[in-house]
Amino acid sequence: MPTRRYDRFTISLHWAIALAVIAAYGIGLVRDEFPKGDRAWLLTLHMSLGLLVIALTVVRIGWRSMTPAPEALPAAPMVELAAKIAHLGLYAAMLAIPLIGLFAAWIRGRPVDFFWLATIPSPVALDTALAKTVKDAHVVAAHLFMVLAGVHALAAIAHHLVLKDATLSRMLPLVTPRGSRFD
Ligand code: HEM
Ligand code: HEM
Repeated sequence: MPTRRYDRFTISLHWAIALAVIAAYGIGLVRDEFPKGDRAWLLTLHMSLGLLVIALTVVRIGWRSMTPAPEALPAAPMVELAAKIAHLGLYAAMLAIPLIGLFAAWIRGRPVDFFWLATIPSPVALDTALAKTVKDAHVVAAHLFMVLAGVHALAAIAHHLVLKDATLSRMLPLVTPRGSRFD
């Protein structure tokens, strides 16, 4: 059976979102190691990347509903089900984690800047006690998100190196998927 690749727009969105998520996570983790003077702009960058993830994910979901994914490659029913559940979990995390972060910032009374272009004022009342709980939830959920994304990436790499199928190559730009007869 010929392999159909993901369309270019889906591939671009997948990798742009993956990079923005990893960068937001990395900045979140290392921000405290920087001198005090650098922490504010790093938080702005962190929050901006997270807001970008929300926007790109909304576009991605809209595009996916109009342009279905290429047919699944042959796999055992349990593997197919596990991949579906993992993808749904990733989509949920791509929206929920930055949204919880946004709420954490607002409830703490922080205005949220989008790449120094626009400021979104907080529409909610300040609540410092709840702010701590929401921030903790944001951080724990972010760690779980990275575990799921890590398993997802390892599964894609295992498909490529061990099963030697087109799962990874059809999600890569500039690569002809294995077993492909057309693009
Ligand atoms: C995919 C998106 C995101 C990921 C993976 C992520 C992850 C993280 C991580 C790992 C931390 C580290 C906290 C620590 O160890 O102290 C953090 C903190 C934080 N994040 Fe996010 N975040 C994301 C998006 C957002 C967004 C969109 C906002 C707000 C608009 C936001 C607001 C915050 C705030 C306010 C903190 C606490 C900063 C502090 O007080 O030290 N995050 N986030
Ligand atoms: C934070 C990082 C990542 C996120 C949030 C993410 C999210 C997603 C989502 C939601 C899908 C489902 C696409 C759909 O069918 O609608 C997907 C597919 C895919 N991702 Fe990722 N991904 C990330 C990182 C990676 C990495 C690092 C790799 C490779 C090493 C990778 C390889 C793939 C592949 C090959 C597919 C297609 C799977 C298939 O055809 O069944 N992803 N990703």
